Amino acid sequence: MTPDLLYHIRTVVYLSASITFIIGLKQMGNPATARRGNLIAAAGMILAIIVSVFINVKKIKLDNGLFDYVQSQPPAFVYWLILAAIVIGTVIGWFTAIKVKLTRMPELVSMFNGMGGACAALIGLIEFHHNTDNTGALVAIVLGMIIGSTSFSGSIIAFLKLNGSMKKPIRMPAYNMINTIWLIAMFAFGAYMIFGGSSSTLLITLLFISALAYGILFVIPIGGADMPVVISLLNSFTGLAAAFGGFLYDNKVMLTGGILVGSAGTILTIVMCKAMNRPLFNVIFGAFGQNNASGDGVAVTGSIKDISISDAAVMLNYSKNVVIVPGYGLAVAQAQHVIHELEVLLESRGVDVKYAVHPVAGRMPGHMNVLLAESNVDYSKLIEMEDINPEFEHTDVVLVVGANDVVNPAAKTDSSSPIYGMPILEVDKAKNIIVNKRSMNTGYAGIENLLFYDPKTSMLFGDAKKVLSDLVAEIKAIG
Ligand code: TAP
Repeated sequence: MTPDLLYHIRTVVYLSASITFIIGLKQMGNPATARRGNLIAAAGMILAIIVSVFINVKKIKLDNGLFDYVQSQPPAFVYWLILAAIVIGTVIGWFTAIKVKLTRMPELVSMFNGMGGACAALIGLIEFHHNTDNTGALVAIVLGMIIGSTSFSGSIIAFLKLNGSMKKPIRMPAYNMINTIWLIAMFAFGAYMIFGGSSSTLLITLLFISALAYGILFVIPIGGADMPVVISLLNSFTGLAAAFGGFLYDNKVMLTGGILVGSAGTILTIVMCKAMNRPLFNVIFGAFGQNNASGDGVAVTGSIKDISISDAAVMLNYSKNVVIVPGYGLAVAQAQHVIHELEVLLESRGVDVKYAVHPVAGRMPGHMNVLLAESNVDYSKLIEMEDINPEFEHTDVVLVVGANDVVNPAAKTDSSSPIYGMPILEVDKAKNIIVNKRSMNTGYAGIENLLFYDPKTSMLFGDAKKVLSDLVAEIKAIG
């Protein structure tokens, strides 16, 4: 095959792979098609890797304005190195992904994301010396390296925080100011390297080290529970760094892939910030991290009332419709299978059962969807916040399981509350509310929940798995 034909074949494969990424992303938007979407995008990625490795053709502009296509043949050992890297990476990635528990998924994502950042940083370190006379390439290299290194070290810190090795946020005095100055200095240094014509190994290594240090400084002040937002932000950084790599190598699929990851990460960050009522400005300037709940919220008056398993079972069994609100506590208790059992049992008694899913219920994006999918809950039963809220006033019983902040009416009624403005599931509109949790402890935001003091609310205390199993047994006994 002639070099120009090979070049065009590669371009078509890159284009097709980019389309599979877009189709994959679209299908990942729905739990029913997410698995297929993932496979389609992965197939596109495999094709793109194959042609990147085996078709080595460069398009060169000639003096007369026409183009020529030049084929090169890397030495055989390069192929062996690539093969070894692919095999080692695939085996490690495959086994970790299979073995990881669902609750540890954010850790895995942060580790994988860190690896992407490290690749982008290494590209910068290696390619800098080969491109010292090309300003456009230097811009891509320096930016890719700064962003990739930041994402790498930041993701490692996020990983350590999520697995509990680094428990407390570390805050130096005036850390925000130090971080901002560091960031500006780093970009100024990078600009000097691009436009000042310096190609010293020492300087590029210094830039690399200062970007690694910035990633650490950026993430250490932030609390562990905020890590999903940080990971999503770092994910968008990695995408951007990869896109710079694509620009550098004139590799279109790397460019589109990077842009898609970068924009998807940015959109996810914005969605999470909105759902948690956290301004994006604070996120970008690293000013968040203190628990959102610096205030105590409104003073609560009134009393709580609890309900026995048998009374709760009767109430649920004789309702026309029940909405289950899953939260972080459901995930901690690993009660996803028994809640599905309860749902099936109630449906067999003629009760219409749905799940109300808040966008930030749990501790990671899509936490509840993934958890409930694991126990084969039908996707059509998972109703998003905007769609379920108007239904609550016609709901006989809302069963809140291990959820707290996402159902706190203070978000709507108390302007002094730290969660004021956060969109919530308006379960207080339902005819009856049963709340299952172990105690009167607060949730993630650390504030009292007005819902628990509502006269329509009954508290069903205990570990979610145990309480739900008892409920199932009791409802079965009703016959
Ligand atoms: P939370 O407000 O954190 O409440 C969870 C509740 O579960 C706690 O009040 C706890 O009360 C209860 N619980 C814990 N273990 C339990 C068990 N074994 N059995 C029964 N109950 C148990 O959870 P939520 O309503 O899902 O809200 C999520 C919060 O996390 C929001 O504030 C959100 O902003 C934040 N957040 C979310 C994300 C994402 S992306 N999802 C990321 C970062 C932060 P007891 O201790 O009394 O049992």
